[in-house]
Amino acid sequence: MVQVVFVDSSGREQVVSARGGFTLMEVAVANGVDGIRADCGGACSCATCHVLVDPTWLDRISVVKAFEEDLLESLDNRAPNSRLSCQISVDDHLEGLRVSVPAAA
Ligand code: FES
Repeated sequence: MVQVVFVDSSGREQVVSARGGFTLMEVAVANGVDGIRADCGGACSCATCHVLVDPTWLDRISVVKAFEEDLLESLDNRAPNSRLSCQISVDDHLEGLRVSVPAAA
């Protein structure tokens, strides 16, 4: 179990416990993180689980795969640190991970 920090688009921080084996999206939804709708349920087809990963964490999480990259490219509010939270698996290395939920495009 690790602690992950979500920051919503108004700057409010929410620290949640995340269990290994789940995705960051699943953790966000289970904890009612504002702005993470996850309409496709993690099938990597909606981008409503978009988050901005704290830049200091980018080299410690999984790399962006081609199908995630394709969906990220469709976002008007994509940033260099954009990720789809359904494509990030929680493990012990993510203790203290900090991600922001961008304002809707
Ligand atoms: S939940 Fe739909 S792309 Fe992540």
